Amino acid sequence: MLETPPLLLVAFLLCLSLLGLLFFLRRSGLLFICWNEFVLQPIYSLLMGDSKEQRILRHVLQHAVAGDPESVLEAIDTYCSQKEWAMNVGDKKGQIVDAVVREQRPSVLLELGAYCGYSAVRMGRLLAPDARLLTIELNPDYAAITQQMLDFAGLQDRVTVILGASQDVIPQLKKKYDVDTLDMVFLDHWKDRYLPDTLLLEECGLLRKGTVLLADNVICPGTPEFLAHVRGSSRFDCTHFSSFLEYSQAVDGLEKAVYMGPDSPARP
Ligand SMILES: C[S@@+](CC[C@H](N)C(=O)[O-])C[C@H]1O[C@@H](n2cnc3c(N)ncnc32)[C@H](O)[C@@H]1O
Repeated sequence: MLETPPLLLVAFLLCLSLLGLLFFLRRSGLLFICWNEFVLQPIYSLLMGDSKEQRILRHVLQHAVAGDPESVLEAIDTYCSQKEWAMNVGDKKGQIVDAVVREQRPSVLLELGAYCGYSAVRMGRLLAPDARLLTIELNPDYAAITQQMLDFAGLQDRVTVILGASQDVIPQLKKKYDVDTLDMVFLDHWKDRYLPDTLLLEECGLLRKGTVLLADNVICPGTPEFLAHVRGSSRFDCTHFSSFLEYSQAVDGLEKAVYMGPDSPARP
């Protein structure tokens, strides 16, 4: 007959697991983020009666200059690196996004996942006056904050915020939003949607030869199915850009996958 393990042994094993978890989080650079997300932010929100995203917007309105996207980005980066961590693409990976947008010069750019509008401001500021960015956001509170961020940055004419789930909006892009094909797509929504939405974009005829998919967080938290698909398919030509998770030391990266067309030759 099995005996109930002594309480002391259970407590010891629990402490050991906790220490192991703390060690892992510290080594991976994620301890600061977990501390912020699960301890500090709930306390702030309880005390201040607002959300982290509202605090980010308030910081921008108080510290940035209206009509100046650079100052908006700087205010968000300062707040999120010094006060409260947030899931914006951030300044380090943001420079990679900038380089790809500058190189590609998209006329029609789609973003999946807007959050507070940081990357929408980042990419919107680099677009030609007649180009446009459509950004899809699932959460109505985040979509409203993104719209206010874009209005403040003076980018409201170039960027359209679409409230909804990517899987519902993508099939409507041609008819409802007058999109023929996309020049570039920035994937930065929930990671399990990267692969199904890539397949959906192709199925809806929104990709053309040369469309650039740029995917954030392919290492942390990671998008293994998406990476395996684009890297293993002759329809995509992939380049990896190694970097760090926003406002942290944890390794992360962006994957650029250029669509080569449906009939591209099979890999040798
Ligand atoms: C990492 S954040 C986006 C950060 C933003 N791109 C930036 O760098 O500033 C992910 C966002 O995707 C949104 N999201 C998740 N799944 C989605 C979906 N299926 N369709 C649209 N938005 C989604 C979440 O609500 C969240 O705001």
